[in-house]
Amino acid sequence: MSRVEGAATDVVDATRASSSPSDQHSPTAPHAPEGPRPMYSLTDVVKTYSQKKKTVTALAGVTLEIPAGQMVAIQGPTGGGKSTLLQMLGALDRPTSGTVRLGETDLSGAGDHALAAARGREIGFVFQGFNLIPTLTAAENVETAFADGSVPRDERRRRAAAALASVGLAERADHLPVELSGGQQQRVAIARALVKEPTVLLADEPTGSLDEATRDEIMDLLEGVWRERGLTLVVVTHDSAVARRAERRLRLEGGRVTEI
Ligand SMILES: Nc1ncnc2c1ncn2[C@@H]1O[C@H](COP(=O)(O)OP(=O)(O)O)[C@@H](O)[C@H]1O
Ligand SMILES: [Mg+2]
Repeated sequence: MSRVEGAATDVVDATRASSSPSDQHSPTAPHAPEGPRPMYSLTDVVKTYSQKKKTVTALAGVTLEIPAGQMVAIQGPTGGGKSTLLQMLGALDRPTSGTVRLGETDLSGAGDHALAAARGREIGFVFQGFNLIPTLTAAENVETAFADGSVPRDERRRRAAAALASVGLAERADHLPVELSGGQQQRVAIARALVKEPTVLLADEPTGSLDEATRDEIMDLLEGVWRERGLTLVVVTHDSAVARRAERRLRLEGGRVTEI
């Protein structure tokens, strides 16, 4: 699934010449820059957290490029900085220093509004704990992705139903989370993450709460949507069986990243 299209050229200039983000992310865009187009470019990313008088360094200088369309696994010990890195990639937070670029957008220099816009346009999230709202049905949970009100109600309903069908849960649209198995709940969360058709899917321990058979089903689903949609997929995992499915494996320990 590599998007290497030829010899490397000046990707930065070619990126600037692109007229819109959708052109830039489309593998079939006319005059697409040659070579792998970076979805993410991180340079010297440092993230520290201050707690009372202590400062914790979660990311200690991460420099990393992730080409569009790649499937990457991130492994490493608890406290190694994996979730913090995913928050940077997900435009949920800004680094203390260094730069994070998503396509043409500099997330590190962006204001809250621009970060929220980038999230809404480009990024889907999946978490270990599913993060569904317990009082809403599966379909209503998927529809929460449209909470900004930009999409009319009928279209929201139609798209939520289609997203649930695409994860094999058409029959469960009216069920509450408590009426669904863990694997089914994670499918709802994946439908919610995909319903706005993001270019990037970020998953933080997506199979961490599931048994092995369900883990494999969920990974089959994630890998399937990655292939079909040409997403950039970043999966944080403790589980080597999950990580082995990725095209590229990174290890994050002590806030520093290495290739495996
Ligand atoms: N919001 C926060 N406030 C203070 N410290 C934090 C916060 N988030 C993470 N940390 C610290 O940053 C380090 C990296 O955490 P994290 O990115 O969650 O690691 P991982 O996901 O690999 O377990 C840890 O030492 C953690 O305690
Ligand atoms: Mg974590």
